[in-house]
Amino acid sequence: MSIKQRKLQHIKIVLEKDTQPYPSSFDKYVLPHKALPEIDLKEINTSVNFFSKKISFPFIIASMTGGEEFGKTINTNLAIAAEKNNIPLALGSMRVILKKPETLDSFNIRHLCPSIPLFANMGLVQLNYGYGAKEINKLIDIIEADGIFLHINHLQEAIQPEGDTNFKGLIDKLAKILPKIKKTVLIKEVGNGIDKETAKKLSEIGVEWIDVAGGGGTSWPWVEGYRRDDDLGDIFKAESIPTDQCLTDCREIQDLKLIACGGIRNGKHIALSLMLGADMASCAKPLLQPALESPEACIKLLEKYKKELQISMFIMGAKNIEELKSIKPKLIA
Ligand SMILES: Cc1cc2nc3c(=O)[nH]c(=O)nc-3n(C[C@H](O)[C@H](O)[C@H](O)COP(=O)(O)O)c2cc1C
Repeated sequence: MSIKQRKLQHIKIVLEKDTQPYPSSFDKYVLPHKALPEIDLKEINTSVNFFSKKISFPFIIASMTGGEEFGKTINTNLAIAAEKNNIPLALGSMRVILKKPETLDSFNIRHLCPSIPLFANMGLVQLNYGYGAKEINKLIDIIEADGIFLHINHLQEAIQPEGDTNFKGLIDKLAKILPKIKKTVLIKEVGNGIDKETAKKLSEIGVEWIDVAGGGGTSWPWVEGYRRDDDLGDIFKAESIPTDQCLTDCREIQDLKLIACGGIRNGKHIALSLMLGADMASCAKPLLQPALESPEACIKLLEKYKKELQISMFIMGAKNIEELKSIKPKLIA
């Protein structure tokens, strides 16, 4: 099956099937309530600096798609919304361009979002399948990206019928090519989580940003399972480190910047993720349906997230993101 057809199946499965095997890991926390916050809701400042740009709130639209039938619509609507809301956008895996240059059009959206941080994407495992710094730099250039997310997803690849499963020696390979890559490399999972030991190794070779993309949101083993005629996806669908645990574990690594993804479903989840150690939050699935509809549908959802983040901060009396990050959430008893 071609990459294009596979991505189309992924979109249909995520839209139509249950792909979240357990609740968001942020649902077990509450915000410590302050009865008199002594601040004005209207004066709460959610902006942060990210990749040398001042953005509206600490949120990235997570990597989703491109290359297949709906790729152009999805990426266009997300790009217009990202620019309007002044938040960063990460595009989905761009490897398809290297194989089929005619798919480039669906990723060609930089002109629609000239002022926001924009990120390319490719699987890290592709370093074992003939790709290297040259191809990564090409993907960065094509969309004038500020950086590239390289995703790690061995469980997904193991269940994907046509998966690339040679994950040997990737840390060493990444260490060798990092100095040759012209923009920042960010490493992400896709919903199974990044453990502390792996994060430490990545940090030691010079990776500064990790998107922990843990469990509690979309399960990619489960998505791939729907494409098979056995129960492999079902057996492994809940194998993941919950996102909140990834954050508390990886936060102990000095100087590492963290993105929380996997089960972020509203602005309260964004607030909680920052309180648990994230520098930025991110999500994919909730934006898929709006991205198929219109820029306005995406803008509306992003505005909703920002408002919910502001109300979360208001509850606790946090005037800005630094103050928010200094507060610890409470586990629901
Ligand atoms: C339709 C769809 C396509 C995705 N494609 C990619 C991709 O190409 N590259 C990638 O790194 N992650 C991809 N992801 C994973 C997301 O970026 C994210 O890490 C994961 O879905 C967990 O977030 P969520 O629970 O908010 O969906 C995709 C997710 C969705 C929903």
